[in-house]
Amino acid sequence: MPETAVTRIRHGSSIGQPLTRRDGLLKVTGAATYAADNHPEGLLHAVMAVSAIARGRVTHLDVAAAEAHPGVVAVMRPENAPKLAQHPDKKDNPFAFRLDLLQDANVRYANQPIAVVIAETVEAATEGARLLAPRYEAEAARTALDTDTPFVPPAVGAGEEPSASTGDVEAGLTAAARRIEVAYETPSQYHNAMEPHAIVAAWDGDRLTLDTPSQALAMAQGRIAGLFDIDPKNILIRSPFLGGGFGSKAGAAGPQVLGIMAAKLAGRPVKLVTRREQMFGPVGHRAQTRQTLRMGTDGEGRLTALEHRTLTASSTYDDFFEPSGGVSHTLYASPNISATHEAVRLDIGTPMFMRAPGEASGSAALESAVDEMAEACGMDPLAFRLKNYAEIEPISGKPFSSKALRECYAQGAERFGWGSRNPAPRSMRDEAGLLVGWGMGTATFPALMMQAEARAILRADGRGAMLIGAHDMGQGAWTALAQIAADSLGLDLDAVTFEMGSSDLPNAGIAGGSAHTATAGSAIHEAGRAVIAQLADLATNDEASPLFGAGNAGVIARDGSLLRRDDESRGERFSEILGRAGRAEIVATAKSASDPAARDHYAMHAHGAVFAEVKVDPELGQILVSRLVGAFAAGRIVNPRLVRSQYYGGMIWGVSFALHEHAVTDARSGRIMNASLAEYHVPVNADVPSIEAILVEEDDPHVNALGIKGVGEIGITGTAGAIANAIFHATGIRVREFPITLDRLL
Ligand code: MOS
Repeated sequence: MPETAVTRIRHGSSIGQPLTRRDGLLKVTGAATYAADNHPEGLLHAVMAVSAIARGRVTHLDVAAAEAHPGVVAVMRPENAPKLAQHPDKKDNPFAFRLDLLQDANVRYANQPIAVVIAETVEAATEGARLLAPRYEAEAARTALDTDTPFVPPAVGAGEEPSASTGDVEAGLTAAARRIEVAYETPSQYHNAMEPHAIVAAWDGDRLTLDTPSQALAMAQGRIAGLFDIDPKNILIRSPFLGGGFGSKAGAAGPQVLGIMAAKLAGRPVKLVTRREQMFGPVGHRAQTRQTLRMGTDGEGRLTALEHRTLTASSTYDDFFEPSGGVSHTLYASPNISATHEAVRLDIGTPMFMRAPGEASGSAALESAVDEMAEACGMDPLAFRLKNYAEIEPISGKPFSSKALRECYAQGAERFGWGSRNPAPRSMRDEAGLLVGWGMGTATFPALMMQAEARAILRADGRGAMLIGAHDMGQGAWTALAQIAADSLGLDLDAVTFEMGSSDLPNAGIAGGSAHTATAGSAIHEAGRAVIAQLADLATNDEASPLFGAGNAGVIARDGSLLRRDDESRGERFSEILGRAGRAEIVATAKSASDPAARDHYAMHAHGAVFAEVKVDPELGQILVSRLVGAFAAGRIVNPRLVRSQYYGGMIWGVSFALHEHAVTDARSGRIMNASLAEYHVPVNADVPSIEAILVEEDDPHVNALGIKGVGEIGITGTAGAIANAIFHATGIRVREFPITLDRLL
């Protein structure tokens, strides 16, 4: 990748520098290629036809009409779809989801792919798909949470359990001086990445080349290999840039696999781009929830009990559940806590991980309920949270590896001016007569670590390279991981060739769970150390080196030189060491490391505090978020500019959650009525006038060698609740259904 001038670091280390994105220039000039920008020789275009019913079967497709349209090459449907080596309902890893790949005529949700039209042009394929004019045998769609008997779902992903508890909630409630029971509802939300799921697929015998966005290259490679019975090594996935993923581009989604099947059927390369409305179904979503919280407090406002019950939606054919109660495991101290989940099978596409899965919806409800409890106690919401501050993780009883939440509260409150809040609802107005409300919420997200591998190279010319199949969804991996690479090699960033975004590089695991910088960064750090150790071996065993006899541990790498730890004036350049040893290059591969004993002993989370100001028109109910201040502590900050940008993005998503996002389902047809960015609202610039993120210092010696916790998702948590609480403070009206819209304030 070409480098840009802003990447130059002359002194000190790269980690911690506020570099601008190294890929920024490529993106703003249009030079960065996304999946759909690829046009191999002989390319055909595929367009999906999707179901207009939510349950039943397809009884007829007018294949002849579509095939007769000029330019149409084939209509892929259950009768002629290439046979798969493995049924797509088979799960080969905990993150695999059942896919709809034209195996039969059954329809499990609205917008399910029912055919793919392949043509010489995208226009011909689009018209061909229209000409199919499907007919159906439809059954009544189940789309509401009270349609069916709930079940207790199995653990999701890497082990999010459906229930956890400590103590005796009933006893705690009985003993309480005050109690509340409140139910909150959150709607279905859909991943609306700017870049839809697109793929360009080309077969060459049993080799497959794919240009497609991926948050988990090796996992997608494994899934596709299983479906087509080919060696994963024969699949090359190129994913240098993603236009957002939000969880929906981990694993391979159905439309991507359909593109591969279409290329197989046609015997030519095929491009398939999911249309915006087709994103509402086959690629996952955040499930709707109904969360019931019961809390009790003693005479001083201490929680005697906290119960968080979640009822959520799953599909008829898979088991994912939205783990909303997870936040109640960790955030507030109480001797009696219970968090449970149940799900109902609905005729919807399988819900999936979506940006702070669980924490986003869970903290929206928990932070609102905590505000209600504080109100019931007549306490300031911040004072109430400090009174119930968890010094250890409440259910597990583990100490925190680090927790600078008190500092987040203090710095956020100070910056926001929380101290001058009039506690009475409806007591504050601005000069224009609008009602002003101030609310707050606590932010939290686990500091996860996954598995990754990286390869480090040092060359005789003194330059280094770091290779890792990492993923940049827009969060800045191209920059942040390269900064870690430079420091790990003891080189300026300019002296390092950094490669990522392709499946032929070492497996970087998943860009998810806000763990990518920690995980991939840790692999990079270890690979750098390993190659420097090789270099040190060469030097310290060479009588001609000023480092001779210093021992491997007695040297440090800096600015392209190895130096004696005990006398930094003595050392030599990497190039001299390699040159004298006659080595063109040295290479080391290493895996990410996290200490299992530390993971066992400590609870690891990032924390934050979000303060929101809203203005509400007393006559019209119109709501504006006029100010957001977030203060977050997430361990070591690799690049403060990018981290601030992640917090902004997260907090804006919080605005979205509180006020905008809502997929509306028609109860009769089971179809989503607002499957477009015109009607599925997300915030625009005018919705977010002022936003600040404070980076609170936090040193964590336990999470991983670099002390990185992750910053991608935490900004959403806390923010939605803070806004809901600010709306209550402005109006005296408590809305318990998200998104909060103006009609509810009238
Ligand atoms: Mo995510 S939902 O961790 O991409």
